[in-house]
Amino acid sequence: MIAFVPLARIDGAAVEALLDRAFGPDRHRRTAYMVRGRAAPLAALSFAAVEDAVLIGTVQCWPVALHGDDGRIHDLVMVGPVAVEPGRQRDGIGRQLMTRALDAARAEGCADALMLIGDPEYYGRFFGFDAGRTAGWRLPGPIERHRLLARGDAVPAVAGMLGSATAAAH
Ligand SMILES: CC(C)(COP(=O)(O)OP(=O)(O)OC[C@H]1O[C@@H](n2cnc3c(N)ncnc32)[C@H](O)[C@@H]1OP(=O)(O)O)[C@@H](O)C(=O)NCCC(=O)NCCS
Repeated sequence: MIAFVPLARIDGAAVEALLDRAFGPDRHRRTAYMVRGRAAPLAALSFAAVEDAVLIGTVQCWPVALHGDDGRIHDLVMVGPVAVEPGRQRDGIGRQLMTRALDAARAEGCADALMLIGDPEYYGRFFGFDAGRTAGWRLPGPIERHRLLARGDAVPAVAGMLGSATAAAH
C-alpha cells in the first residue's frame, strides 16, 4: 500500500537520488532550479509517496516571486518537481502527489497563485494550469513558453522577472 507523508520525514539523499533517476543527473542546470534559488522547499506543501518503506515519488513546492516591471512583488508558489520512480510511472502516483500539494496549498491559503514549468498536456489536462498569463514573465534561464504554466486568480498577467521570493529584481 502506498502512503503519502510529508517530504520532511524522508532522508534527503533518497529524495535527491529519486530526482536524479526521474530527471537525469544534469537536472540542476534546469531553469526551474535557477528560479527557486537557494530557498528551502515549503514543508507544508511537499510530499513523498512511500511503499513498503521505499520512496517511489515526491513533490516539492517553493516560494518564488514575480518582480513586476510595475515595481510590485507578486508572491507565487512554484509547484514541482513532481517525480515518480521510473518503474512506477503512469499508475496515478504523480496525480495523487499533485492533488496533495494542491490541497495543502488551499489549506495554507496560497492556492490562488501557483506556477510551474511542465508539460501542458499533463498539468493542463489534470490540474487546470495554463500559459495564459505568463507571456510577459522573464526567467533566469531558457524557457519553452508553452511550458511556463500558472493557475489561480492572483497570478499576475504582468511583465516582470521571475525569481526566488527573496531575490532582488534584475
Ligand atoms: C510526469 C510524472 C510526474 C507523471 O506521474 P505519473 O505517476 O507517471 O503519471 P500519472 O499516473 O499521475 O498520470 C498518468 C497519465 O498522465 C499522462 N502523462 C504522464 N506524463 C505525461 C506527460 N509528460 N505529458 C502528457 N501526459 C502525461 C499519461 O499518459 C497518463 O494518461 P492516461 O491516464 O490517459 O493514460 C512522472 O511520469 C515522472 O516523474 N516523469 C519524469 C519526471 C517529469 O517529467 N516530471 C514532470 C515535470 S515537473
